[in-house]
Amino acid sequence: MTNTAKPIIRASFSDLEIGRRRTFGIISHPDAGKTTLTEKLLLFGGAIHVAGAVKSNKIRKTATSDFMEIERQRGISVATSVMGFDYKALRINLLDTPGHKDFAEDTFRTLTAVDSVIVVIDSAKGVESQTIKLMEVCRMRQTPVLVFVNKLDREGRDPIELLDEIEQTLQIDVRPMSWPIGMGATFKGVYNLHENSLHLFRPMRQTVAEDGISVRDLSDPLLDNHLGGQAIRLRKDVELLEGVYTTFDTERYLEGSLAPVFFGSALNNFGVRELLDTFVAIAPSPRQRYADQRVVSPYEEGFSGFVFKIHANLDPRHRDRIAFLRVCSGRFDRNKFYHHVRQGKSLRFRTPASFMAQEKTLIEEAYPGDVIGLYDTGNFKIGDTLTEGEAIMFKGIPSFSPEIFRQVVNIDPMKSKQLESGIRQLSDEGVAQLFIQEYGNRRIIGTVGALQFDVIQYRLEHEYGALCRFEPLPFYKAAWITAKDSRELEAFCKYKSDRLAQDKDGNLVFFAESNWNLQRAIEDNPKIIFSFSSEFMQIPLTV
Ligand code: G4P
Repeated sequence: MTNTAKPIIRASFSDLEIGRRRTFGIISHPDAGKTTLTEKLLLFGGAIHVAGAVKSNKIRKTATSDFMEIERQRGISVATSVMGFDYKALRINLLDTPGHKDFAEDTFRTLTAVDSVIVVIDSAKGVESQTIKLMEVCRMRQTPVLVFVNKLDREGRDPIELLDEIEQTLQIDVRPMSWPIGMGATFKGVYNLHENSLHLFRPMRQTVAEDGISVRDLSDPLLDNHLGGQAIRLRKDVELLEGVYTTFDTERYLEGSLAPVFFGSALNNFGVRELLDTFVAIAPSPRQRYADQRVVSPYEEGFSGFVFKIHANLDPRHRDRIAFLRVCSGRFDRNKFYHHVRQGKSLRFRTPASFMAQEKTLIEEAYPGDVIGLYDTGNFKIGDTLTEGEAIMFKGIPSFSPEIFRQVVNIDPMKSKQLESGIRQLSDEGVAQLFIQEYGNRRIIGTVGALQFDVIQYRLEHEYGALCRFEPLPFYKAAWITAKDSRELEAFCKYKSDRLAQDKDGNLVFFAESNWNLQRAIEDNPKIIFSFSSEFMQIPLTV
C-alpha cells in the first residue's frame, strides 16, 4: 500500500468490537488512592473477587531507596500494566500508570495510549504536584477527564474550595455530579445531583453492594429522615452549586474542557459504582489518531498500532523485552506478518499477549483500543508503528524535558562499544533520554528522577557488561530548539557548543543552567522556538 492509497472503511463485526471498547488510565499524586480505586473498579467489573488481589504498578514506600526492589515490584506489575474487564457489555481496558514520580515518563507515555482518564484527588490534600504535571499532558492531548475526590471518610477540605482549586490548578471547568454530606466523622453519604438519589455511607471494604435511596427532589422529607440537621445544609449547598456550575455537557467533556466530579471513598467502595456507571455512559470509544501522513480512523480495515511502553525482562540472561502496543485501526491477528515502519521490515508475532487482571493470556486477535504485549528481542523503540504495509508513524509520543542531567563516564575502555549500545537500547526503552554533545563527544543522560541513574548503572553492568559512572552537570532544563530560518538557529548556536546537544533522533537541544538563563535566552531570541517536549507541533494524538 502506498501513502496515497485511500483507507478502506467497512462496517463489520469489528465495528461492534471497537464501539464497545473503553481504554483509560487513572492518574493521581502518590497516595491519593489510585491503587485502591483500580482494585475497586476491578471488583465491580468482576475481574477479581477479593480486595487486595491486585499488585498494581504501585511502588511501596519502604522501597524508595532500594531500586532493585523497585525493579522487582515493577516486574510483578508487568502483568497488571493493562487490566481488561467486561462491564455492562463494554470491554474496559484500564492502563496502569506508575505513581512514583521518578517514573513519570512512563506515565506520560501511557497517557498517549488512552482515550480518557480518571483523576483521583485526596480530599484532604487537594490538587498535588504530580497531578498537575500529568494533567498538562492530558490538556495537550485534549483527553476527556473525570475527577474522583477520594477519602471522604476522613476530615478533608471544603468541597467548594476543592472544586475551585481543581478549576484553577488543573485549568479545566468542573461540574459536580454528586455532593458530599459532611465528611470524616460526620460523613453521611453523597447526594446524586443528576438522579436525585441519596447514597448513605456504610463502610464496606470487601464487597460491592451499594444502594441508593431515591428521593423526589431536595424538598423530599425522606432527606430529613435520613440526614437530620444535615439535610438543611445539603439543600443550601445544592442551591449554591446550581447557581455557580453549568449543567453537564458531554460534548465539552469529550473535548477535554469540562470534568464531571464525583465524591467518595475508594477504600470503602463508596461512590465507585456511580463513577463507573457514569464512565461507561460518557467515556469515548477509540477515536481517530494523527499519524504524520494522515488521520487514522479506528474503523479502517487495515491494521495499525504503536508501541508506547517497553518493559525489560528482569532476568539479565535474557535480553528480551515486552513491547506494549496500542491497536489504532483494523484488526491485529496472531502469526500474521506486519510492517515495522521504522525498520522497513516484516515481523510476525507468535505469542502476543493480552492481560486480564493478573492473568496474561495468549491472544489470537485484538481490536482498536486494545493493548497487546509483544515479545521483543530488540526491534522496538518507543513510538514505533506497525501497519499492514503503509509508511505512517503515529504522532503524540513525545519526550518531555528531563530534570536531572549527568554525563556518562566510561570506566572500562575495553567495553566502550557495549556501553554505547547499552545506553542506546535503554534510551529506546524510555528508561532515560540520551543527548549527544559534539563538544567533547559527551554522552549526557537526562531523567526525571535520580533513581533512574541507579537503574541504568545496574542494567548496563549486568545486561551489557559495561561499567560507567555519572558526573553531575549544572543544567536546569533542556529545551528543543527550532527556527523558521536556519540562519537564526546558527546565530543562536554560535559560542554555545558546551550547552548544545542532539537528542537520539538528531533534534537540537539547548541546556539552560537556570530558570533565569532560560528566560533570558527565550526573551533575547524571539525567533527561536523553545519547546519542552520533543514534539514540536502541538497536535493532539486523538481528534
Ligand atoms: P496510590 O495508589 O494513589 O498511591 O494510593 P493507594 O490506593 O495505595 O492509597 C494510599 C493510602 O490511602 C492507602 O493507605 C489506602 O488504604 C488509603 N486510602 C485509599 N482510599 C481511601 C479512602 O477512601 N479512605 C481512607 N481513609 N483511606 C484511603 P496506606 O495505609 O498507605 O496503605 P495500606 O496499608 O492501607 O495498603
